[in-house]
Amino acid sequence: MILVKTLEELQNKLNDLRSLGTIGFVPTMGALHKGHLSLVEKSATDNKTVVVSIFVNPTQFNNPKDLERYPRTLETDLKLLETTSCNIVFAPNAREVYPEPDTRKFNFGELETVMEGKHRPGHFNGVAQVVSKLLDMVQPDKAYFGLKDFQQLAIIKSMVKQLELPVEIIPCSIVREDNGLAMSSRNELLTAEQRANAAFINNTLSKIKEQKGLKSVEEITNWAIETINKNPFLTVEYFEIVDDEQLQPINNWNDKKTMIGCVAAFCGKVRLIDNIIFN
Ligand code: PAJ
Repeated sequence: MILVKTLEELQNKLNDLRSLGTIGFVPTMGALHKGHLSLVEKSATDNKTVVVSIFVNPTQFNNPKDLERYPRTLETDLKLLETTSCNIVFAPNAREVYPEPDTRKFNFGELETVMEGKHRPGHFNGVAQVVSKLLDMVQPDKAYFGLKDFQQLAIIKSMVKQLELPVEIIPCSIVREDNGLAMSSRNELLTAEQRANAAFINNTLSKIKEQKGLKSVEEITNWAIETINKNPFLTVEYFEIVDDEQLQPINNWNDKKTMIGCVAAFCGKVRLIDNIIFN
């Protein structure tokens, strides 16, 4: 595994490797955990070369405090990646990614007016900016994204379509802690007590499956919000049951469609997201 920090080094290295087989790419913001590593391993089963980027992208943080607090653990990340099938770590600085300020404004239509888009204005524009730049730098055959960030995945698929980028986007399952809490770099910011209580989010989502046929979408939505809010460590920002394409709220259960329950909740100052897919 090698670490490269500049575009020039990255492209020199990739020029040698591209003729040997396909390139798989896993973009991350570091503070790596088993969720990220599962993307790396999936990429390694599909491709000859695996590139992982580590870059805390300032343009996707709508809250400057959140950017400041975001964990940065490059040394530990590199040690973890050494244990995987990663071949190249690309850890650029902000000037390398944004030699000029990126003023592009993407239009994702109704995809960006709900949930994360509604509560984090500008967030997905920043994600689209950085992911399009990274895809342009790495030029992978396939790029891997976690279903934990379900809306992000939908945005990236839309961006790839709009820009006609020659890359296949591969969704990867959510990796969880033993207690069910979705793994996240932000979990590092939780105390042990908060972390134990944060598992209540997934715990509540899992119970929805049992009640699905028995209660209306509205009843279940209210129930989920109230139940999570009853935990003194948690405050729900939103919980919505939406369709899996445009991510618009649905009114009635429909067994023929895939629906997804998405939640954002604060645990202390830390904002956590999770979801559950109903097939
Ligand atoms: P980051 O939060 O570091 O996540 C990098 C990738 O890992 C994303 O595709 C995310 O969905 C996936 N991931 C995170 N936790 C996961 C889990 N528990 N199980 C499975 N996959 C998980 O998402 C970003 O960074 C950034 O927005 C980025 C796409 C890199 C653009 O800056």
